[in-house]
Amino acid sequence: MRIGIFGLGHIGCVSAVCFAQTGHTVMGYDINREKVAQLNQGLSPVLEKDIDLFINEQVQNGNLKATDQIQNIMDHSEVIIICVDTPSNGSGSINLQAVKIVCRDIGKELRKRDRFVVITLRSTIMPELIKSVAVSILEKNSNKICGRDFGFVYNPEFLREGTAIDDFFHPPRTIIAASDCTSERIMEDIYSAIDAPLFKMTIEEAAMVKYADNAFHAVKVAFANEIGRFCKAQGIDSRKVMDVFVQDYKLNLSPYYLKPGFAFGGSCLPKDLRAIVHQVSKLNITTPLLKSVMTSNDEHVDYALRMLEKYHVKRVGILGLSFKTGTDDLRESPIVGFVNHLLQNDYKVKIYDRFLAQPHVIESTRKYIKLQLPDLKGLLCTTLEELLDSSELIVFAHSTQEHRDLVKTLRKSYKIIDLAGVNEEETILTGEGNYEGICW
Ligand SMILES: NC(=O)c1ccc[n+]([C@@H]2O[C@H](COP(=O)([O-])OP(=O)(O)OC[C@H]3O[C@@H](n4cnc5c(N)ncnc54)[C@H](O)[C@@H]3O)[C@@H](O)[C@H]2O)c1
Repeated sequence: MRIGIFGLGHIGCVSAVCFAQTGHTVMGYDINREKVAQLNQGLSPVLEKDIDLFINEQVQNGNLKATDQIQNIMDHSEVIIICVDTPSNGSGSINLQAVKIVCRDIGKELRKRDRFVVITLRSTIMPELIKSVAVSILEKNSNKICGRDFGFVYNPEFLREGTAIDDFFHPPRTIIAASDCTSERIMEDIYSAIDAPLFKMTIEEAAMVKYADNAFHAVKVAFANEIGRFCKAQGIDSRKVMDVFVQDYKLNLSPYYLKPGFAFGGSCLPKDLRAIVHQVSKLNITTPLLKSVMTSNDEHVDYALRMLEKYHVKRVGILGLSFKTGTDDLRESPIVGFVNHLLQNDYKVKIYDRFLAQPHVIESTRKYIKLQLPDLKGLLCTTLEELLDSSELIVFAHSTQEHRDLVKTLRKSYKIIDLAGVNEEETILTGEGNYEGICW
């Protein structure tokens, strides 16, 4: 395939040489003439392990060259890959200047041509800006329609500087978000040489995966550093602690705890976080990330309450009260806080929790209930029917098979707040009609 790369920086250079290595004929384009000249001499404009060797090899055998003339790259390319920079503005927003200029210039060139070209964006940009800025500038300047006259693909990349060549050939996954089937198929062909799981998704989802990745990586580093500071202040070897921490593939390095849902609670997480934050305050160090976690959790409960308030109802039925599905433990259950807020604001609340329905269970958690939810006995229903009879809106706080079946039938006659992900029907969109899910 004849590929054109716009922007010969870290990502552009690595992509250019690696696509050439996999058998494509690649031309690079950059407004920086020095970079163009360097690449044509077989030298890398960026510092990266093994890149000089590969660039030299690919320039020598004619698979890779660079140009500072946009007509040349447009004449050459069946697929264009945009890798220009998107730095931060002072406000934190991203500076789209380079993306805008490139899309304008490509658009003008497309206007002169009849060929179907696939325009792929690899630069990191906010989901809402891809269509509203990049695609819209391409359409306006080409006077063509995206998906019909030219293809558009968002294809985020997961290279790390320093190991970028190896990461290119062994990425964690490949994501292709295309405007049309032809472009999707062409990009699939291009990536067929790379052995990695392939995901197809919407352009907005693909852009969001990239931001979620980078936010998570940043949180991981900050977390490890805060644990490091906490350990050091107590004379504990943090490397040993984290060496063992990372051996837990069940709960720590795993998909566990990583699906958006409701707030956490229970007898351990809130208590132990508070203990850490308290201890830290005595050690002359600070751990802002850990300190903010309870605030974030409380905000999630408030967020759910605001969602419910929008429905303007007063009779609310809660399905599930314990801190998570499958337990009778009410300690620090975020649903208890949620119910208390509703009661304080004159809502009529009924609760049905299969695990709490038996009298001996209530007895065993009596002390906790007396303090946190003294009116619980009057709120608890012994049957589901009793709860449904007295409610206009149902809050699903636990995801059991019974609840997943129930949501399908209740949707027509009740307003529903889904805190637990009980809705398995992809056709029900959040905010649609009577249904609202907390994170989807
Ligand atoms: N560097 C990374 O590790 C990394 C990782 C993942 C994603 N990204 C994303 O990839 C994108 C590129 O990052 P980078 O680090 O390669 O940037 P970079 O600054 O190293 O390179 C950008 C290149 O684009 C060129 N350019 C600017 N305007 C141009 C124009 N109008 N026409 C042609 N070329 C133009 C610049 O001269 C420069 O050579 C960014 O959106 C970044 O967020 C970078």
